[in-house]
Amino acid sequence: MGRTMTEPAVLFVCLGNICRSPMAEGAFQAEAERAGLQVTIESAGTADYHVGEPPDPRAIQTARAHGVDIASLRGRQLVAQDFHRFTHVLVMDHANLAGARAIVPANAPTRPMLLLDLVKGREGAAVADPYYGGEENFEDTWDDVSRAARALVAALLAPD
Ligand code: 4NP
Repeated sequence: MGRTMTEPAVLFVCLGNICRSPMAEGAFQAEAERAGLQVTIESAGTADYHVGEPPDPRAIQTARAHGVDIASLRGRQLVAQDFHRFTHVLVMDHANLAGARAIVPANAPTRPMLLLDLVKGREGAAVADPYYGGEENFEDTWDDVSRAARALVAALLAPD
């Protein structure tokens, strides 16, 4: 039997699935554990560039500096079935949103949304791509995804 849609299942999506979305996955996993929240958590990329690869070493290092181990995660590509499996598909930027919308099945219950739409005052904003940047950009990514992770835990714990 399949999982019912009453238990939350969250998929974080970026382009390569080696920087932003694995960091979001790790940050949210840590926040959910702290809160005792039962939730399925994965991440994926709209592109297939890094399928099967671990996160970027800078993403692993930044997460580790914040007490979170993401080294065992492996890249995978977003697929249409994800919009049936997950209650939340949270994308990092507007290009990811376009990429995700291009493959959402018409009959799927879940639609993609921007991750920072969860953060008060950041609605409509993107989590900037740190791939071509330096370590400070990865710190900014961690800051964004951990704020969103806390907001998402609060939203999932709030009564309907
Ligand atoms: P991500 O960053 O989407 O946050 O994982 C990127 C990773 C790889 C590439 C671009 C962005 N790339 O062009 O290979």
